[in-house]
Amino acid sequence: TELPDLLVVGSGFFGLTIAERVASELDKKVLILERRPHLGGNAYSEREPETGIEVHKYGAHLFHTSNERVWEYVNRFTTFTSYQHRVFGKYDGQVYSLPMNLNLINVFFGKSHTPDEARALIAEQSSEIRTEDAQNLEEKAISLIGRPLYEAFIKGYTAKQWQTDPKELSPDIITRLPVRYNFDNRYFNDVHEGLPTDGYTAWLERMADHPNIEVRVGCDFFDVASEYKGKVPIVYTGPVDEYFGNSEGRLSWRTVDLEAEVVDVDDFQGCSVMNYNDPDVAWTRIHEFKHFHPERTYLPGKTVIVHEYSRAADEDDEPYYPINTAEDRAKLLRYRELAKEEPMVLFGGRLGTYQYLDMHMAIGSALSMYDNKIKPHFTDGAPFA
Ligand code: FDA
Repeated sequence: TELPDLLVVGSGFFGLTIAERVASELDKKVLILERRPHLGGNAYSEREPETGIEVHKYGAHLFHTSNERVWEYVNRFTTFTSYQHRVFGKYDGQVYSLPMNLNLINVFFGKSHTPDEARALIAEQSSEIRTEDAQNLEEKAISLIGRPLYEAFIKGYTAKQWQTDPKELSPDIITRLPVRYNFDNRYFNDVHEGLPTDGYTAWLERMADHPNIEVRVGCDFFDVASEYKGKVPIVYTGPVDEYFGNSEGRLSWRTVDLEAEVVDVDDFQGCSVMNYNDPDVAWTRIHEFKHFHPERTYLPGKTVIVHEYSRAADEDDEPYYPINTAEDRAKLLRYRELAKEEPMVLFGGRLGTYQYLDMHMAIGSALSMYDNKIKPHFTDGAPFA
């Protein structure tokens, strides 16, 4: 079989952006290998068959960016709705508006505060520990927002997320815990925000819809690597440790378990995401997917909810969030050295660089790799490195 001009391993936003640019702008043939049975990586979504409600299969995905280049680029493939993300949280029989804001403070302390009164209250409550002296995540959080808010809104949630008592977690996990002394509860601060009008999968498929691009799903690169390694330039977006046979040890990740069910009510919780802060509730959040697209029409009397549970990933689990311990960082440095030496292979994306990347960051970093490394290789014969 004829070799492509470029091989891309992984069809997430990083791989698709590289493939699209090389195919459209440079008119080169690109082969994308994807080991899952579908393209799109973690942003992939599908319609739940009974209700037709779009469900993000690998966890809720909200698009937002302040990067004008990325915004212009993504609008070539999809339009966006005017959805604005807002999150609510349950604690001890009450519902609060997140992120922590004046509404939450007033409801939690049972009386109204002006912005200055609330600021003074939190300053007083957080004076118990100095931030520089914090020895663990619990002390750091108390030093930032005080004990009462920490115990209600951080302690139980964090313990469930990490399956570890916050007293045992590093203070470095949090740098700041923003409290808004106003009623603004928009989750993201970016200039652009919205959800793809026809869904994520339509967007992802349009990126790959080019005569120069072939996508082979259900194909693991490691099963066919010898056909391509050293023969064509490769952009690899799978896990960097796996590429090197875990020679430096496995990098650690958290995963989430997502349990979807159809419930026979029109509206289960009145919002798209409800966090559960109580320690005795096993899940961290419930997503109700119809609320992501209030502009769509739905069958009455049915909704889809997804319970989310968080835990450390085993070998066979989907890696979702890098844990990034000191040991992980040391391993990563060694993998980066190996990656530099690997001829004709560039490593990118969230798995290839062991980094949590939002979608706009994955796309932005792929556009930079294209500009700085890939285009110069194909147009000026610069080394593929
Ligand atoms: P991605 O993981 O999408 O793609 C990599 C692909 O490579 C996968 O499809 C994988 O199967 C494939 N692959 C790996 N090894 C292979 C091999 N050996 N052979 C063939 N294929 C292989 N972002 C955001 O902006 N807003 C949000 O709300 C969220 N929410 C969110 C929730 C959760 C739970 C997660 C884990 C992530 C998010 N994200 C997000 C981040 C978003 O998912 C991320 O930015 C993109 O997935 C990054 O795309 P990549 O292409 O880097 O990786």
